[in-house]
Amino acid sequence: MMNHHVDIVKSHGELQKRVRALGTAITKDYAGKDLVLVGVLNGAFVFLGDLVRSIHTPLAIDFIRLESYIDTHSTGRLRITANLAQSIEEKDVLVVEDIVDSGRTLEFLLPYLRAQNPASLKVCALLSKPSRRTVDVVIDYCGFEIPDVFVIGYGMDFNEKFRNLPNLYAL
Ligand code: IMP
Ligand code: MG
Repeated sequence: MMNHHVDIVKSHGELQKRVRALGTAITKDYAGKDLVLVGVLNGAFVFLGDLVRSIHTPLAIDFIRLESYIDTHSTGRLRITANLAQSIEEKDVLVVEDIVDSGRTLEFLLPYLRAQNPASLKVCALLSKPSRRTVDVVIDYCGFEIPDVFVIGYGMDFNEKFRNLPNLYAL
């Protein structure tokens, strides 16, 4: 990392402020509902950790892990490598993602979750790179739109490193 040039894209303070605002909106929208946050591992764990402490209505937390793999026919297919531990049937499910890039992760994940008959299904993503989108996805709660830069920190990695950096940096 020290051999690379890095710029701060969002400081820890900016992230905290925006995450608190998202939490306030979610608190209001989900009052009286049966909320389950589904964090997408690994990237969303830091964001989710801050977000839940800004949501002041009862909620459950679950996680799902997706990995892309290369098969003989194509590249970049997705598979689930760790699944939910609880039923989401009749629950108000909010998927929590670190970043929506091409949109392919959500294109795969949302129908998978919808098939389990949640009462509602929405998406909260800290970051979105609209210019990278190859499939249309609706982000109900979006922290920041950013340009086409590769970012690390605040849960996001480069080769599994740098997730622990408190700020968000561009490589
Ligand atoms: P999508 O399926 O192309 O929308 O990409 C989603 C996943 O790719 C995200 O959840 C991240 O894990 C990863 N990703 C996309 N862009 C970045 C980035 O700039 N930094 C780190 N991870 C990224
Ligand atoms: Mg991710």
